[in-house]
This record gives sequence, C-alpha cells and structure tokens, in this order.
Amino acid sequence: MQHSNSTSISLSQALKKACFELEKTSDSPALDAELLLAHCLNKNQTYLHTWPEKHPSEEQLDCFNLFIEKRKTDYPVAYLLGHKPFWTLDLIVTEDVLIPRPETELLVEVALDKIKHINKPKILDLGTGSGAIALALASERSDAVITASDASEKALAVAHQNAKKHDLINNVEFVQSDWYEKITTTDFDLIVSNPPYIDPQDPHLKTTIRFEPLHALAASNQGLADIEILIQDAKSHLKKDGFLIIEHGFDQAECVIKLMGDYQFSNPKNMADLNHNPRITFTMNE
Ligand SMILES: C[S@@+](CC[C@H](N)C(=O)[O-])C[C@H]1O[C@@H](n2cnc3c(N)ncnc32)[C@H](O)[C@@H]1O
Repeated sequence: MQHSNSTSISLSQALKKACFELEKTSDSPALDAELLLAHCLNKNQTYLHTWPEKHPSEEQLDCFNLFIEKRKTDYPVAYLLGHKPFWTLDLIVTEDVLIPRPETELLVEVALDKIKHINKPKILDLGTGSGAIALALASERSDAVITASDASEKALAVAHQNAKKHDLINNVEFVQSDWYEKITTTDFDLIVSNPPYIDPQDPHLKTTIRFEPLHALAASNQGLADIEILIQDAKSHLKKDGFLIIEHGFDQAECVIKLMGDYQFSNPKNMADLNHNPRITFTMNE
C-alpha cells in the first residue's frame, strides 16, 4: 500500500534507474545505488530486496536523487554515507580524512604479528587520519598503549569521534603533531604509518581521489618526502628491537628499502597485498 506522501516509483524501479545513471562513472553502480538508497530509507540493503515493490516517500526519493547526482560526479560513496568499514570497525569518515582502504588492513595484520609476544606494547600511529590503524590495533590489543598523531586538527576530531564510537577512547592518546615534532616517547615497540606517498604530478590525483584531502595523499620528492622523514627519525623513537612498518605505493618498495638502509636499518622486507603488489615495508631497530 502507498502512503499519502509516497512517490509513484517503487524501490526496485528507483534502483534500476540509478544503476543505469551510474554506469558511466562507477565500477559498482548496483552496489552504490543500493547502499545509497538503503541509507536514505534508514534501512539495510536486505530491506530493498525484501520489499522491492514498496514506494519511497518524497523526502527519501529526494535524498536518493541528490546522492545519485553527486555520485555521478565521482564523489565517493563513503563520504555520502558518512562511514566506511575498516577491519572490524565501522568508521565515521568526512572530507577531512582519507577514506580507509582495504589494503591498509595488511599493515594492521603485520603490526599485530610483530607485537604478538609483547606485553603492553607501546605503539605510535603517525598520520592517523580517521584513526583507522590505531583503532584497529586497539580493538585487537586492549593492553596496548597507543599514541595516534596527525598534523590535521580536523582529522584528529574525526579520529576522536571514532574512538568514542567504538569505546576505545581510553586506549588511544591523540596528539596533534607534525610527524615526530610533539612525540616525546623514545621507546616505542612499534611505529606504524600510512603516510601521503603520491607524487604531486601523478594524474591519479585528478581522478576520484580528488575529493580526499590533498595533504593526506601527496608528498614531494616523487611521493617519498614524508616517508623519508618517518624513517629518518624512527630510530630515536624506537626501543631496541622495535619495529617500523610503513605503507607505500606499489612502485616505491625498492626506494623505501633503500631509504631504510640509508638510515641504518638492517634487513628491511616488503610484503605484497592481495593483488601481489609490494605495499608494506617493515624493519627492526637491531
Ligand atoms: C594516507 S593518510 C592515512 C590516514 C590513515 N592512517 C589511514 O590509513 O586511513 C595520511 C595522513 O597523514 C597526515 N599527515 C600529512 N602530513 C602530515 C604531517 N606533516 N604530520 C603528521 N601527519 C600528517 C594526513 O593528515 C593524513 O591523515
């Protein structure tokens, strides 16, 4: 039955139309349309399949049409929804933070492995953004003492909200800092970072990632400038036998290995992601 303010279009018709409209811009038009419509209805995706013949209200359809218009410009679904799953957490995301990527879960896996035998590990997450890495580690290791820093006050506000949302506020200390500038601890067991690493000339910066903060994505010296700072000052903040783990571009693995060698780290190793691209490099402060 249709309500008085319901529209003449059914949920399945609305989805079909939106899917067609998104085909040119999105790699996943059907999924995008479902996520966005479910959000406007304040329901889950199953609801759309259970009640395809239901009619959305005018407000719900307006919300959906607005989302589809924005998505047609390549605007990310995660920013429209305001959240993104990462690890086991559903993280709040705004335009002030990078949208956490599934590739970064590899860094979390490696980090958890490196600290598995350490009681109350002291961890530093540099450039925490939404808090993705720090909070994923905190959610797995309630004994960890974690510092998460970012230069962006706005990003830290989002990270803080995420810590509250997941009841991890007592597990992570947030610090506004230009990399190590305000970090006074000198005996971390683990330093992790997914820093900006894209060459400012890289044409990818003009694609869909153009909606994400440039300071979270691009770094000078062909994307290596921030990575070099992270490596250069890591020794003075790591315990002996502490680990440094850095995420980087698929074509930067050799350069990161070389930089680690230049700053007296021995035996650095790369790890490949599920697409067989070396995206993580780690080393130990021997
Ligand atoms: C690639 S994003 C990573 C965000 C998050 N760690 C993740 O994996 O989703 C890089 C982060 O580094 C931060 N950043 C950039 N320059 C910085 C600096 N000089 N000092 C501290 N953080 C910085 C950005 O604000 C951004 O949040």
